Amino acid sequence: MEHYKIEGGHPLRGKVTISGAKNAAVAIIPAVILCNSACRLENIPNIEDVAILRNILSSLGAEVDFSDNVFTANPVTIHTNEALSEDMTKLRASYYLLGALLGRYGYAKIAYPGGCAIGERPIDLHIKGLSRLGAVIDFDKANGIITAKAHTLVGAEIYLDKASVGATINIMLAASCAEGTTEIHNAAKEPHVVDVANFLNMCGARIKGAGTDTIRIVGVGRGNLHGCSYAIIPDQIEAGTFMIAAAATGGEVVIKNIIPAHLEAITAKLMEAGVSVDPAIEGNDYILNVASTMRPRPLRIETCTYPGFPTDLQQPMMAFLSTARGESIIIDKIFTERFNHVNELNKMGANMRVLGNGKAEIIGVESLHGADIYATDLRAGAALIIAALMAKGETRVYNLHYTDRGYENLEEKLKALGARIKRVN
Ligand code: EPZ
Repeated sequence: MEHYKIEGGHPLRGKVTISGAKNAAVAIIPAVILCNSACRLENIPNIEDVAILRNILSSLGAEVDFSDNVFTANPVTIHTNEALSEDMTKLRASYYLLGALLGRYGYAKIAYPGGCAIGERPIDLHIKGLSRLGAVIDFDKANGIITAKAHTLVGAEIYLDKASVGATINIMLAASCAEGTTEIHNAAKEPHVVDVANFLNMCGARIKGAGTDTIRIVGVGRGNLHGCSYAIIPDQIEAGTFMIAAAATGGEVVIKNIIPAHLEAITAKLMEAGVSVDPAIEGNDYILNVASTMRPRPLRIETCTYPGFPTDLQQPMMAFLSTARGESIIIDKIFTERFNHVNELNKMGANMRVLGNGKAEIIGVESLHGADIYATDLRAGAALIIAALMAKGETRVYNLHYTDRGYENLEEKLKALGARIKRVN
């Protein structure tokens, strides 16, 4: 089976440039469907999720091209509003096709979304929001198909029981083409939510308040958004992953192409652990210098919606804290079962336990040793690779398709930092 062969114990040193944000790209690419002319998207990461969405848009009839991190798409040639290909089941973000097709055509028929096995992943808040806009939604459970129809989408007041990223964005997509005004209360505030709103506004949408608890969308009506050129934000989670990898290997890494405000939570926790994180400006760009020469101090981390500590970084952080000088506690309040990486890390000599209700404890050990380990989801894969880079000896990390989904050129970027990593078929 294909795996990474990693020889651990080598501190990462050098510079790494962060790619475009996966979770912005997987929303903005479907959002192109709302437009009545072509879009040019820059800084799009060359990752598996983007390739899948490219296939989905192409299967709908859109003219698409993707090279050198530039994604161009002309939605005018779309000839169907039914997205039923198997590709739809390969990623969670395919749920954005619901809001996009509904917003553009008043009709959407999509296959159930897929995505990482990180516990229960309902879409009830998406359905509640789109229904509030006037959509009639049916579920064909036997065939795994969702159908949404709306003669006219009408703006409404929507309260989200949880600040769901996906539901916030999906509602924004449909509401931007509704008649009248929508207000989303308890909206998600993640950077990629703001990025999607900025893209839609470049297309002529009228969205205010993205990044706050309340987003106000004045609908412009169906088919009235035009194409645009837009560069997406850098990936907050990829940047955090490399910050943790630099600290975990006792290295010194300059992280380039970042937005410091997006990294405040991870910066604060790494500094609390004893890592030095120094922001600087290089030319016109912000950079972060991350360095560590010691075993980390133990931490207590509770994940939270933005600007709190992101759930997507708790798994890499657990690898880092496996050799802390004491006991750490992780509480994931977003995905309470996101701990499938724990057993794999314990195979490397880590001493961690899942306590239930989203809580896990980590008793720091002197060091990890190499082992054969298996990724179970995207960010678990990142955690296992970080552990392998830390460990004494050789580790083989399997199930690379997970990290292929969300990290662009991961092997090359790590090799450029001195990692002894090789992809082996
Ligand atoms: C997005 O997932 C991201 N995925 C996830 O990143 C990320 O972990 C998550 O947001 C939280 O930041 C994409 O953007 C494609 P949510 P999403 O809706 O939209 C519950 C990665 O590694 N919920 O904010 O699925 C849900 O169960 C991936 O890049 C409902 O109850 O997350 C969870 O407990 C993994 N009903 C909480 O809300 C709903 O209708 C937050 O989920 C929707 C969500």
